[in-house]
Amino acid sequence: MNIYVDSRVSDETRRMRLYQGSIFSYSPSPSALRLCRFAQELIEEAFSPLDPLRVHETLPAEKCAEILSTLKPRFIHHPQSKKFIQGMLAELGCDLERTYFDVPRMRTAYPGDYLNSGIAYAFHPHRDTWYSAPLCQINWWMPIYDLVPDNCMAFHPRYWNRAVKNGSNGYNYHRWNLESRYNAAQHVKGDTRVQPRPEEEIEVEPQLRIIGEVGGPFLFSAAQLHSTVPNTAGVPRYSIDFRTVHLDDVLGKIGAANVDSACTGTTMGDYLRGTDFSHLPADALALYQDGSELQYAMSSQPPQAPVAAGTAR
Ligand SMILES: [Fe+2]
Repeated sequence: MNIYVDSRVSDETRRMRLYQGSIFSYSPSPSALRLCRFAQELIEEAFSPLDPLRVHETLPAEKCAEILSTLKPRFIHHPQSKKFIQGMLAELGCDLERTYFDVPRMRTAYPGDYLNSGIAYAFHPHRDTWYSAPLCQINWWMPIYDLVPDNCMAFHPRYWNRAVKNGSNGYNYHRWNLESRYNAAQHVKGDTRVQPRPEEEIEVEPQLRIIGEVGGPFLFSAAQLHSTVPNTAGVPRYSIDFRTVHLDDVLGKIGAANVDSACTGTTMGDYLRGTDFSHLPADALALYQDGSELQYAMSSQPPQAPVAAGTAR
């Protein structure tokens, strides 16, 4: 695994290297910093008068989950968030005409077992491709506040080329959306939703943790095995992540190798073009659809926008 730091290679070269298992890390860019600052403002407002980095000391977990269930969708769907993502992509060399992104997620990881399911789910080792993400998906991740090694996310690089026995064959993104996505806030102390998990012992060491600065993203393939690091830092972690796909790779079915994913459905319908937020063209979507998107079509609009897709860290 190679880690590129502030690389100046083209976006196309970067994508090909990401698909081969490399990771790209960048210093903070102006729009990324604005996005983090915006997130900080929303977080601080939501928890006021408490310090968001100390809420676990005094706030009941149920109350925290309630606050997050409003805060997270507010950030995710705020027009300002999308604007900053546009700026960030342009600053890091993406062609906005051909790059599609999904809305940015806000993730939280609280110390100990304060709140680590449902709305703040702590992720076991997984590949996003087990959750119906395409093999050309690139994940972008950055911290909102200063990160330390004991409250971040980890890669498990020995599994890049190595298949893991897993439950992805029981996962369908459209069914997940229909059945459980809108109920995440109810899973405060235990999460009973069926998710693709490793079905063999994972050797979590050696693992790689990238400790970037606020507004400094790193990029990795959706096929990387990664997990939430159990938070033993005593301080919550708040982070942002979002995903991109490039139209050329979508159309050409270019991406990482599929070593062990067997899920159905696709997240391809979620991505929005960098220029005008339009969805991928129908012919591009059709390449990834298997009919399950119709089988599990929403019968009615949910009362509240979705909080998070199934592939957080
Ligand atoms: Fe993930």
